[in-house]
Amino acid sequence: IPVDPFDLVIFGGTGDLARRKILPGLYRRMASGQMPKEARIIGAARSELDRAGYQQMVKEAIEEFGDPRHKSDVAGVGDFLERLDYVAIDAKGEGGWPELKGLMRDGVVKAFYFSVGPSLFGDLAERLKSHGIAGDDARIVVEKPFGHDLGSARALNASLAAHFEEHQIYRIDHYLGKETVQNLMAVRFGNMLFEPLWNSQYVDHIQITVAETVGVGGRGSYYDKSGAMRDMVQNHLMQLLCLIAMEPPAKFDPDAVRDEKLKVIRALDEVDPHHIVRGQYDKGPDGPGYRDDVEDARSRTESYVAMKVGISNWRWAGTPFYLRTGKRLRARASEIAVVFKDTPHSIFGPEAGLHRNILTIRLQPNEGMELGVTIKEPGPGGMRLMDVPLDMSFADALGPDAEDVPDAYERLIMDVIRGNQTLFMRGDEVEAAWAWTDPIIQGWIDRHDVPKPYDAGSSGPDDALALMHRDGRKWRDIKV
Ligand code: BG6
Repeated sequence: IPVDPFDLVIFGGTGDLARRKILPGLYRRMASGQMPKEARIIGAARSELDRAGYQQMVKEAIEEFGDPRHKSDVAGVGDFLERLDYVAIDAKGEGGWPELKGLMRDGVVKAFYFSVGPSLFGDLAERLKSHGIAGDDARIVVEKPFGHDLGSARALNASLAAHFEEHQIYRIDHYLGKETVQNLMAVRFGNMLFEPLWNSQYVDHIQITVAETVGVGGRGSYYDKSGAMRDMVQNHLMQLLCLIAMEPPAKFDPDAVRDEKLKVIRALDEVDPHHIVRGQYDKGPDGPGYRDDVEDARSRTESYVAMKVGISNWRWAGTPFYLRTGKRLRARASEIAVVFKDTPHSIFGPEAGLHRNILTIRLQPNEGMELGVTIKEPGPGGMRLMDVPLDMSFADALGPDAEDVPDAYERLIMDVIRGNQTLFMRGDEVEAAWAWTDPIIQGWIDRHDVPKPYDAGSSGPDDALALMHRDGRKWRDIKV
């Protein structure tokens, strides 16, 4: 179903994110028929480009980063390029703003994507208002990093709140736009099967893994100031944790969902320093080490974190959540595993073997779900038990339709146009996440903590294995 006609202004319209994700994503939505003819996209950036120059840049970006299935669709790209405009703008001065105002139309949805560093958020917000470009119905889209700590996040929220209402602000965490992440809510709240067991009485522990094979080469200067804790845990892993742990909201509406997520963050325990392992990848046969990638031979920034987190509320007290994420690991594999407790008693005796049910939600690659079920080992060998997977991959379940599942950015941008904030972070949520993260990072600074080296291409530092072993548990394999 096409969305309403819109004018979408992309500040930072020539930047990396715009070229890699936003513009190819918009193009793909058009190719899928979701974008009405009247939709317009206005790039705004410092470069002195004209409309034709911008169209050319976007064409090249789509060819480079677009979906291969649409690459040859030249007529389509042309059609898309017709919807583009460009204005050279000075975020910190007055240049270009009257021109932008002249391009905006009445009677369409107006959205402004701040695909720029957070230091410009306040300037852009102010000028959009002072030039009378964005009214009370305009929508503002901002990207992570949303602040560096609680103080800076509060300042950013305040600089946006000075000009816009919370219901106009869309803070992106692209993990919330992933198909399987939303499916987590469908699985939990659309089935009778899981929710009654979804608590500390039946769940032994939960593992959340976001493993990447890429290093930080190319974005070392950003990453080295950030590290895995700020880059991944404070936002993406936190969001996954919230969706897994939250109480059922009364309705699937933005504030009902975000209220429940906020309660989870506020119930998180302070993390014991012994329950966190930081790692940094070493040089490997197929790539440089972290310190070469960031060009600081003494950097103490972590490219890996594993931790054990507790949630102090009635549902989860006593069930630990183990989180880990890192770069340059064995495989790109993101999943959530809900490990259920042992049956209270085995009628088959110890020789039959004991298996636990594990529900695994695979975020990427090969999105899907698997439920490990215990059955009798087939054959005449007596009553021996074995584990078999009930396995569902989305690609199989959806058939050819799987190809048209929008990627995270496509979906989120369309949600902005529709005015649906459910999959965006609210200001108080972001602040609560920083309030939990800050003391952890401060502890590392105070203790002069040095991350543990790990081999590139491995599953992370040995200490992370020990973190689980101490509790008599084991990480799931990061499967290649
Ligand atoms: C980004 C981080 O937010 O998410 C990157 O800044 C990370 O460091 C990326 O690589 C992971 O996203 P995805 O969608 O590839 O899992």
